[in-house]
Amino acid sequence: MAPSSSTASATATSLRYAIVGTGMMGVEHIHALQTLADTRIVALCDPHAPSIATARRALGPDGDAVEVYTDVDTMVANGGFDVVVLASPNHTHRALAEPLLRSGAHLLIEKPLCTTAQHCRELLALERETHRPGRVVWVGLEYRYMAPTMQLLAHARSGVLGNLRMLAIREHRFPFLVKVADWNRFSANTGGTLVEKCCHFFDLMRLVLQAEPTSVYASGAQDVNHLDETYGGRTPDILDNAFVVVDFDNGARASLDLCMFAEATKNEQEISLVGDLGKAEALVTQGLVRLGLRADGWFQTSEQPVTAADLPPAMQQHGAHHGSSWREHMAMQQAIRNNTTAEVTLHDGLMSVAMGEAAHRSIAAHRPIAMSEVLV
Ligand SMILES: NC(=O)c1ccc[n+]([C@@H]2O[C@H](COP(=O)([O-])OP(=O)(O)OC[C@H]3O[C@@H](n4cnc5c(N)ncnc54)[C@H](O)[C@@H]3O)[C@@H](O)[C@H]2O)c1
Repeated sequence: MAPSSSTASATATSLRYAIVGTGMMGVEHIHALQTLADTRIVALCDPHAPSIATARRALGPDGDAVEVYTDVDTMVANGGFDVVVLASPNHTHRALAEPLLRSGAHLLIEKPLCTTAQHCRELLALERETHRPGRVVWVGLEYRYMAPTMQLLAHARSGVLGNLRMLAIREHRFPFLVKVADWNRFSANTGGTLVEKCCHFFDLMRLVLQAEPTSVYASGAQDVNHLDETYGGRTPDILDNAFVVVDFDNGARASLDLCMFAEATKNEQEISLVGDLGKAEALVTQGLVRLGLRADGWFQTSEQPVTAADLPPAMQQHGAHHGSSWREHMAMQQAIRNNTTAEVTLHDGLMSVAMGEAAHRSIAAHRPIAMSEVLV
């Protein structure tokens, strides 16, 4: 089939998906897509045969009918898909996104958009060059769609907290998992931990505060994890703990407290948002949101459990980032079918990478980095 069979049609009833990169995250996308109506996975692309085999198994009986490719160019030449999910390693996104953008298909690119702000800017330029009305290009910053975070956002938007001044995000979690060919052990492949992992949190900062970052100051290091590992004679160089402080153009400030040797904890993410009228907290693993209003007096808070009741049983079973990838696909399909624009844009992807890059530069230079130094 010619590439033109990859359409950005807003009226398509059944959406045909291709998954590029069928490792851990590619399979999570498969599980999410399988629960959606009028959705078919028609192609898998991955050079690593065991990843293809796992994805086929996840597809069940549909795994026999799917087209399998080992390279994106051949897949694009054959066409036959409407939407592509790009879930290959971070350092491959820049090169693989180019033929996918040129194919005209709708595209979800996993976070981080690229490993550098420069590469992100190049993809923004390519998207403009290949623009087709109705084509949706989306970045997989799915922490926006975790239920407790969504509730915190609702409090932020309602005005109940007043003028939002401080946002503190703590992620205390387990070390990086083992990945195919160990790509995530080196910053050259990931962009560095504050890009790879923390682009999610920098995206949340902009979204919650509805403001743009002006400068970033960070302190961090690789103190504990992966120091006893070697790959081809090289020891991993990935940061495992950091504090990051971000100033925003509306005067608000945000902090990130990241520790990746802190799995002995109750919540992987704890987010605290304070305005001049009150404070809201999201405890993500517990599924709890706390709200306190200053007018109600000291130490008065209400607690609201946030359940994943909206998730279909298959998604509850697979965990899958608390269902956020499923909600992300629902939102993306709505944009495709209703001919509207992406909720999470390439610009959002660029900004989240640029903030992480600024944080890494700040650690190296021992000084605050103005965002204008990164967004040249
Ligand atoms: N949204 C999230 O919360 C989240 C969580 C985990 C990972 N991710 C992102 O998803 C992406 C994949 O991560 P993962 O954890 O699945 O890694 P993984 O190592 O489990 O899988 C990556 C797969 O991509 C394949 N691949 C490598 N080069 C390729 C190429 N040129 N074409 C096609 N496939 C190729 C590998 O063979 C492997 O099967 C990364 O960008 C990662 O940052 C996002």
